[in-house]
Amino acid sequence: MPERTLRASVTALGVDWQQRPLRPEPGLAALLAQPALSEGDKATVVQALGAELVDVCLAHGYHSMDLVVLHPDTPGLDEALARFDLPHTHADDEVRYIVDGAGLFGFFDAEGREHSMRVGPGDYLRVPAGAEHRFTLTSARRIKALRLFSDTAGWVAQYTARVADPMEVLE
Ligand code: LAC
Ligand code: NI
Repeated sequence: MPERTLRASVTALGVDWQQRPLRPEPGLAALLAQPALSEGDKATVVQALGAELVDVCLAHGYHSMDLVVLHPDTPGLDEALARFDLPHTHADDEVRYIVDGAGLFGFFDAEGREHSMRVGPGDYLRVPAGAEHRFTLTSARRIKALRLFSDTAGWVAQYTARVADPMEVLE
């Protein structure tokens, strides 16, 4: 069972984990409360919340942003979760700002220990390129997150050889 992570152990692995509290106005809160969003609604959310991340875009050269929305009726959700559960790295940073729902990231240290971190609305994280990690949803199977990219091609998953039990699904 992976240890519940303290901020310090995640930070030691190079992950930048910040709280950036969300204070959505009522119209935006109503959109975030929906499980699924149209493409137009996703664009509205990106427009409304993207400004919160201008500093990191400038600091790290991220120049595209989208909103990923997963919910229990997302087509192919089980297959996607099976992929996310496999330890992997990316050639570019993985940057997420969670705006609804919840999830669990696992980060592997040099000794192969997994440090898990539950994320929810207002959590911003930047997993640096090359850091081995994996992800799952909580039992609610629902999340919305802004994703920042410098190059979407660099963000393809490279699976590591590590064999690990499936992640624990939290409430
Ligand atoms: C990914 C995350 C979830 O690469 O680690 O999609
Ligand atoms: Ni990843």
